Amino acid sequence: MIRPAPHPAPLPAVASGFAADVRAGLTHAPQKELPSKYLYDEVGSALFEVITVLPEYGVTRAEERLLARHAADIVGELSSDVTVAELGSGSGRKTRRILEALCRRQPTSYCPIEISRAALQLCRRELGDIERISIVGYERDYLAGLAEVSRQRADGERLLVLFLGSTIGNFARLAATRFLRDIRAMLKSGDTLLLGTDLVKPVETLLDAYDDPIGATAAFNLNLLARINRELDADFDLDAFEHVARFNPDARSVEMHLRAKRRVEAHVRAAALSVSLEAGETIWTESSHKYHADEIPAIAADAGFECRRQWVEKEWGFAESLLAVK
Ligand code: AVI
Repeated sequence: MIRPAPHPAPLPAVASGFAADVRAGLTHAPQKELPSKYLYDEVGSALFEVITVLPEYGVTRAEERLLARHAADIVGELSSDVTVAELGSGSGRKTRRILEALCRRQPTSYCPIEISRAALQLCRRELGDIERISIVGYERDYLAGLAEVSRQRADGERLLVLFLGSTIGNFARLAATRFLRDIRAMLKSGDTLLLGTDLVKPVETLLDAYDDPIGATAAFNLNLLARINRELDADFDLDAFEHVARFNPDARSVEMHLRAKRRVEAHVRAAALSVSLEAGETIWTESSHKYHADEIPAIAADAGFECRRQWVEKEWGFAESLLAVK
């Protein structure tokens, strides 16, 4: 149950995006929620890097294996004058394979697009040693950054957009198609999108991947409340919450929640919000949708692409699809 603060102050202008989203999410009924993009502050991004090397979380290693095996093949599908724009650069480990294969063929511009300056700096450090690469980072959200890269390119220059790591899985299904359409709207004939998607696999494997035994994913999830405490002058008692991973068979997604172990009251002063949760009530913080490899071409077609090639990693279950503008 949500009660307004005793003397609600006008919403402060500071940190308005985050404060406003937290306020909207924690007053959402019947299910409280928080947008998953806020999992990635500096601490959350570091914890996510830990998750990517956990034995239980096969997503990143599967994609690395795919790109290591097929980078030359992928590059062989691309036209000659290609600039690479990556939505969310991450640590740059996976992207290295593609960039090295491209740079062997031609000098290549690489434009990572990230809202985090720290991530862009990390990416420059990781990939700056590749011969014949020039890196121009865009500190923007994905679509604004891509619009700028697309606008600034020379005539005849083609774009390869990378959207790796199954980040598309963190969008609800309809929103995923809408997002692909938005990307498509910024591209021209001859441009391509390389899309990584994690595939459906047994529920136990998925639950282990999102609720690992050393608690790295739990820390990643709980850090969202810690971040709200740090940045929005809030007082969530972290000991009163536990991490929960659930499979939602209708959505074919793994959901992460934060569950109150007892009745909890908290105040988020920068959002002028008092919030209470009953014991057992949850805050939904992320969904990770899982795909079948053969549904990607139809989703791509719906968004104005044709699936030109697909590479599937069978050991874990991950697909890389090369989508061309129709
Ligand atoms: C970034 N994203 C694709 C990850 C995923 O698998 O959905 C985030 C993550 N959440 C928990 N573990 C990993």
